[in-house]
Amino acid sequence: MDYFSTPVRPPRAEVLKRVADKDALICLLTEKVDEELLSIAPNLKIAATVSVGYDNLDIPACTRHHVAATNTPGVLDKTTADFAWTLMMAVARRLVEADSFIRSNSWRGWNIDQFCGADVWGKKLGIYGFGRIGREMARRAQGFDMRVIYFNRGRAPREVEQALHAEFVPADQLLAESDYVSLHVPLTPDTRHLINAAALKKMKPTAFLINTTRGPVVDEAALVEALTAGTIAGAALDVFEREPDVNPGLLPLKNVVLAPHIASASLETRTKMALMAVENVAAFFDGRRPPNLINPEALGG
Ligand code: DGY
Repeated sequence: MDYFSTPVRPPRAEVLKRVADKDALICLLTEKVDEELLSIAPNLKIAATVSVGYDNLDIPACTRHHVAATNTPGVLDKTTADFAWTLMMAVARRLVEADSFIRSNSWRGWNIDQFCGADVWGKKLGIYGFGRIGREMARRAQGFDMRVIYFNRGRAPREVEQALHAEFVPADQLLAESDYVSLHVPLTPDTRHLINAAALKKMKPTAFLINTTRGPVVDEAALVEALTAGTIAGAALDVFEREPDVNPGLLPLKNVVLAPHIASASLETRTKMALMAVENVAAFFDGRRPPNLINPEALGG
């Protein structure tokens, strides 16, 4: 067994060298399991990513190499939704700006117009992608008396819509009407740059964009332009197009809250995710079907 425990990501060449003779790989979302890695590791039977998003795994290539691919769905939904809410509240109420104001010793006393932000309660929340995490967003919105609209490729069952008081609308309507647009679609070729200049123009100048899914779902350059020009009011981002690089245009903007991809980072949830990945590998070598198998075809269906 080999493992990396350093806080920095291991160099790709080192990963390739060490995976070459392994039967199983447990990896993070920063590790690409692609044709290059798979051809170097002929014994590899399972690749288990410790993340729900699996855009780091080339699934067709895994299947071609008969490598089972697994992820960690479910356990992080509530934690991730909590954090999307944290970001939404922080950007709306200018919390990060206000915190820096105090730390820089600039506060000279209470004033009527200090750090006036936007209300969250009573506003319209647009949830773009209505899977497990999107639905948790909707559940939380009820406590804030928000009106919830959502867009998803497939419409949710009526009972789910009713229970969550969520109304299905076309994507363009969601962008045009929402006070807060929260993204919850996986990264696929179809969703890359889903939020581009044209989409941002459809949003209200008072609206905020929240992204806790994957950075490339948003065209970061277009977002910088929109935030600078006042096309939208603000954004809160946990994910970036080229992590760990952040578009330098975002850094000076006060109407942006930035976090280093930590939406699922509670100790409880990250522990559950790690255990889930281990359980997938253990199941495989026990002769059981890994509970979170993405590509059953790799094992013959
Ligand atoms: C995931 O699981 O895909 C998140 O981005 C990290 O928790």
